[in-house]
Amino acid sequence: MLYYHDPQNAKSYAAMCEGYDASAQLEILSKVLPREATLLELGSGPGNDLKLLAARYEVTGSDYSPAFVHMLKARFPNQTILKLNAISIATDGLFDGIYSNKILQHLNDDELADSFRRQAQLLNQGGIVFHLIWRHIESPGGDNDLLFKPRSLSQMTAAMGNDFELLEALDFGEFEDGDSLAILARKK
Ligand SMILES: C[S@@+](CC[C@H](N)C(=O)[O-])C[C@H]1O[C@@H](n2cnc3c(N)ncnc32)[C@H](O)[C@@H]1O
Repeated sequence: MLYYHDPQNAKSYAAMCEGYDASAQLEILSKVLPREATLLELGSGPGNDLKLLAARYEVTGSDYSPAFVHMLKARFPNQTILKLNAISIATDGLFDGIYSNKILQHLNDDELADSFRRQAQLLNQGGIVFHLIWRHIESPGGDNDLLFKPRSLSQMTAAMGNDFELLEALDFGEFEDGDSLAILARKK
């Protein structure tokens, strides 16, 4: 079973993230994405960011883990929640923005490039992607098959290919200075 598909692992992750607050990073998004815009979140997990995003956007939450989808539907009964893999993103909607927080480290390089190609298809003209990623952090390890691949800005822009124009990139710290990167880009 995939790591986050196990309800116990999803529950422990949710407990660990209680009180986590990404509002400082979301300020960056609010500069370019107007209120009421449509936004798809990939890998919403327990939904701490979804709660903040829902106050401003017409947001769709998603995750590939049935355990997290179940948790999200219980926590946000009035919100659209989809079971989506961030690689194939098998939905037919069109969005003004796509967001994720600390999920892209679980995709290998080919999957990341596929994900960005699909994100470009799902965005309206001039649509925005905003992704928070690990730049460097030790893999949490453990006896599981979860890929954990932090990335540099240049690796991320390479994965985005020619579909996106980088608008802003900002280092920030979650556990230590500069361990994380916020990337804002616009569909060309
Ligand atoms: C470290 S957690 C982050 C969760 C949430 N974004 C947060 O900030 O708390 C990684 C999340 O990515 C999800 N995930 C991992 N690989 C995925 C994939 N290929 N497609 C969709 N979600 C994925 C996991 O189920 C989990 O919810």
